[in-house]
Amino acid sequence: MDMQAPPAALLALSCIAVRDETPTVKTFRLRADSGPVGFTPGQALVLRVPLPGGPAWRSFTISGGARGDLELTIKAQAPGGATRWLHDNLREGSGIEARPPRGAFTLGLRGNDRLAFVSGGSGATPMMAMLRHLAETEPEADLAWFHAARDPAEVLFARELAEMQARMPNLTVAVSVSCAAPGWFGYRGRVSRGQLATAIPDLGRRQVFCCGPQGFMQEVRLIHAAEGGARAQFHTESFGAAAPVAPPVAEVAVAAGPGFGLTVNGRAIAIRPDETLLQASLRQEVVIPCGCGEGMCGTCMVQLVSGRVDSRPNGGLTPEEAAEGYVLACSTRAASDVEIKLA
Ligand code: FES
Repeated sequence: MDMQAPPAALLALSCIAVRDETPTVKTFRLRADSGPVGFTPGQALVLRVPLPGGPAWRSFTISGGARGDLELTIKAQAPGGATRWLHDNLREGSGIEARPPRGAFTLGLRGNDRLAFVSGGSGATPMMAMLRHLAETEPEADLAWFHAARDPAEVLFARELAEMQARMPNLTVAVSVSCAAPGWFGYRGRVSRGQLATAIPDLGRRQVFCCGPQGFMQEVRLIHAAEGGARAQFHTESFGAAAPVAPPVAEVAVAAGPGFGLTVNGRAIAIRPDETLLQASLRQEVVIPCGCGEGMCGTCMVQLVSGRVDSRPNGGLTPEEAAEGYVLACSTRAASDVEIKLA
């Protein structure tokens, strides 16, 4: 099965600088050959990473940018993967391709003035883009940021955050590490209600933006609710999400109807009621590249050739891509027999 991504307009980017953030995290500054690229703080860029075994599409939240450049702050993960390849190969002067910025995890979701950012590990990157924007446009913004890191050496943007606090009178920052070293005076241990309620006493009355691993976000969501926060005031952005899985058979059995036919690059498979295109494909060993699994990153974009669908992108499609007939396999269900194309 051909696993190329659809030929939506790609940006040709040149790496113009690389800087070390922590021993395992680098920031890459990228410039589009076609000119300045606009983005809304909190959005992500999907890179086409040319791994030896074939290109991999990976979504990274934009951590910042100025004068039309884009910065990605990326932690190196396991050898052989996309992040390791980027650390080893993306240098000043080299190039890479990407889909244009996308995503709905932005300050546009904000409903009142008081904000809380809660981040775990690399989840700090969209928060940093939003904070830099607020520092420019609303330095008086009432914002509390709680960041959880593994150890003190892995705390991202520490120096810049200290500088921001000097410039933004209503910004508070609390950091927790799970492996504290001697001399660490911040919070210690896994994120807990006690930690968060101490660091942000009015958490339940703030508009929360949370980004980190799935388990971390789930924990924070429960804490926010326990503190009296409304679900509508809790916004999340995941990274490193596992591929979505098909619903259990028992669950499918009670769903109405026999399902439809799904054709992927000419191969006919079946799609059950309530399954997404992605779930049906993976269940039948047709691989569609995916990232967030929640309609936000655009990695699973496919072209709808025929059929009716119920498509619910969550910021992962640009209006142009939607108009060209692309849908997101992770957040699209069949409403008739459907044919899609991966390339
Ligand atoms: S996997 Fe991210 S939009 Fe589908």
